[in-house]
Amino acid sequence: MILLLGATGYIGEAFERELARRQHEFVTLSRSQVDYTRFEVLLEFLRAKKPEFVVNAAGYTGKPNVDACELDKAGTLVGNTLLPQAIAHACAAAGVPWGHVSSGCIYSGAKILLNGQVRVEKDMTRPELHAIVEKSPERIAGFTESDVPNFSFRDQPCSFYSGTKALGEEAMTGIGESYIWRLRIPFDEFDNKRNYLSKVQRYAKVYDNVNSISHRADFVKACLDTWALRAPFGIYNVTNPGFVTTRQVVERIQKILKPARTFEFWANDEEFYRQAAKTPRSNCVMDVAKLLSVGVKIRGVEEALEDSLKHWKPE
Ligand SMILES: NC(=O)c1ccc[n+]([C@@H]2O[C@H](COP(=O)([O-])OP(=O)(O)OC[C@H]3O[C@@H](n4cnc5c(N)ncnc54)[C@H](OP(=O)(O)O)[C@@H]3O)[C@@H](O)[C@H]2O)c1
Repeated sequence: MILLLGATGYIGEAFERELARRQHEFVTLSRSQVDYTRFEVLLEFLRAKKPEFVVNAAGYTGKPNVDACELDKAGTLVGNTLLPQAIAHACAAAGVPWGHVSSGCIYSGAKILLNGQVRVEKDMTRPELHAIVEKSPERIAGFTESDVPNFSFRDQPCSFYSGTKALGEEAMTGIGESYIWRLRIPFDEFDNKRNYLSKVQRYAKVYDNVNSISHRADFVKACLDTWALRAPFGIYNVTNPGFVTTRQVVERIQKILKPARTFEFWANDEEFYRQAAKTPRSNCVMDVAKLLSVGVKIRGVEEALEDSLKHWKPE
């Protein structure tokens, strides 16, 4: 039996759907039933129910966006750092392997390949870098699991949310057996205020940057596959291979959904941060070679994006 924490959440409900589809025996737990955020309560539950594996899809995300985390720093730290640490200790004490949903938002930028050299660029909005993304995408590479996070409390600036996600990874490392699955900007065909494609359609003005992104159902399948395949424990970037700019996403929305509205973009970072955002945003490209190397199959970002828009289900 698999124990699923956080099934009431946006990502947790996708795990629940996929476990049901696989006809895998599982149990969901909400804090309203059992306060699994407390080490001793969770340990007792694990010892009594003896799950073979635990999925942690619980955590603190700011709503409507990451700026909200700046207003509840204690809650953000509890949900994203102390919670994975408590789960790690409880699972280790009960001898249960587990997987944790982390985030790619602990990185900023991408790697640029030039004359056999690789250099990290944190701000891809610079015009000369944006031109490389558009004209020579083969010269762009993503962050791998062995790259140290560069959008964290240790490498500032960062948002408080990102800082706690990076610290959460540190807090669970070396304790028992676990996967860290890094999700990035979830999207799919179901119109929802949490869906990236819905957000882009509803923004008054759009912020253009380059990102790797994760189709929600593809993400949970890939995560569960790491366990099903008994891939080595450790960190895995779990995005659809490749990357997209927000402008490319808007172009596809216009082509496939043909919305009545036109899209306007923020002129630059200065305007975006002055008028629309409070805390720094992470925009980054992720490398998924490690995930693919253990035998997990996940479709490319272009295919996942086109498929979601072609099967778009308005709310
Ligand atoms: N959505 C995104 O854009 C995104 C992107 C990258 C990574 N992630 C990560 O994915 C995980 C799940 O995110 P989500 O979008 O599914 O979040 P969500 O919709 O807010 O759901 C999270 C669930 O976590 C549980 N929880 C446990 N402790 C909590 C706490 N201290 N504060 C708030 N909720 C708590 C709640 O379930 P119960 O109360 O029922 O137990 C809640 O329903 C998080 O770790 C998040 O950092 C999300």
